[in-house]
Amino acid sequence: MNAPLQTPASLAPFADRRRRLAAAMGQGVAVIGTAPERTRNRDVQHPFRFDSYFYYLTGFTEPESVLVLVAGEQPRSILFCRPKDMEREIWDGYRFGPEAARDAFGVHEARPIGELDKAMTRLLSDQPALYADVGSDAAWDGRLIEWINRVRALARSGVTAPGEIRDVRRILDEMRLLKDAAELDAMRRAAAISARAHERAMRTTRPGLFEYQVEAELLHEFLSGGSLSPAYPSIVASGPNACVLHYVENRRRLEDGDLLLIDAGCELEGYASDITRTFPVNGRFSGAQRDVYELVLAAQAAAIDAVKPGNHWEQPHEAALAVLARGFVDLGLCKGSPESVIESGDYRRFYMHRTGHWLGLDVHDAGDYKRDGAWRPMEPGMVLTVEPGCYIRPADSVPETLWNIGVRIEDDALVTADGCEILTAATPKSVADVEAIVGRG
Ligand code: GLY
Ligand code: MN
Ligand code: MN
Repeated sequence: MNAPLQTPASLAPFADRRRRLAAAMGQGVAVIGTAPERTRNRDVQHPFRFDSYFYYLTGFTEPESVLVLVAGEQPRSILFCRPKDMEREIWDGYRFGPEAARDAFGVHEARPIGELDKAMTRLLSDQPALYADVGSDAAWDGRLIEWINRVRALARSGVTAPGEIRDVRRILDEMRLLKDAAELDAMRRAAAISARAHERAMRTTRPGLFEYQVEAELLHEFLSGGSLSPAYPSIVASGPNACVLHYVENRRRLEDGDLLLIDAGCELEGYASDITRTFPVNGRFSGAQRDVYELVLAAQAAAIDAVKPGNHWEQPHEAALAVLARGFVDLGLCKGSPESVIESGDYRRFYMHRTGHWLGLDVHDAGDYKRDGAWRPMEPGMVLTVEPGCYIRPADSVPETLWNIGVRIEDDALVTADGCEILTAATPKSVADVEAIVGRG
């Protein structure tokens, strides 16, 4: 199946990004292809998902497409895409074809994808550098080299080949890290759909359901909200499964007394949301569950307080860790002082992941976390998750009342001029809000 027919509401952001990329390149040619189609089994394809860099620059969602951007005083963008084909369109649906794509997506030129190899010899002639996503696909890398070799073969006719291949992602990652207004609009809408999905899951949950039945409620809300896909496989993890960080089987029956950890977010117009909530299946936290939940909630609040311009990337993690380490000592999970628990890394028995990641077109989005060896400062326009947790597996060294309690609380934060905006704030989170809603139909 192909991507559905979509044209972005406004082309201006895409054209602006191409202009900014060309300006950062100065000279040279960038070639950015979309993702390959992948077979699921026999003649069935996985649903197609475009490449995030390609989409960021074009808004074009069809497979078999490549953007070529020629930088210089008058940058030119050329889209290579599938030609019109009435026979294929009867089976697979509409495709733009070069002519309509050029008009709809505002590129200077569009050509059939079959002409790419030939065109690249001309486009790379006398250019100083080729910019591409080198190393992401061996076959694609081979094609880049082949183009350069073909230009090189023309040396005796006075043509020079690019002397350098540069990683175009070094420029694009920095651009993608600071979200523009169109991106933030999509991310706010994605977050709102996901918040509704979590609320629906809470309302529906009761002992006796299976995890996949709760997942169905999430998917219902994603699709009815206009999202065509989750941004990543939904984690619906009850009881001991909450301590499996990437649990996606979603097959267990919910038991009275379990906690249910749901990590799920929809993708909207390419943009991810990423929310985790943990709540009691029967609508009432036990004393031990509540203790751990309140601890993770306090760690998250401390981390969110640390999300502000000027603070560096690691500060929210450090803030969460300080709260968690003290809590682990108070709960009898770790021995010694909170400082020694951090120093020795003993906390990792119960908190083994980091407190967040960049969020955008990819759920673990583009962008460096360090620059020149130092954690980078946060700037307005960056979007990150804040997601501390605590996962307690049965062990002799652990009080039995805490066994199999797994809690994570995750929200999406936009760094603003003086702090942050929680894009996912509508998702119920306090003990009182959660208990008031779980199982209420
Ligand atoms: N859902 C993926 C993550 O939280 O990083
Ligand atoms: Mn996350
Ligand atoms: Mn998540």
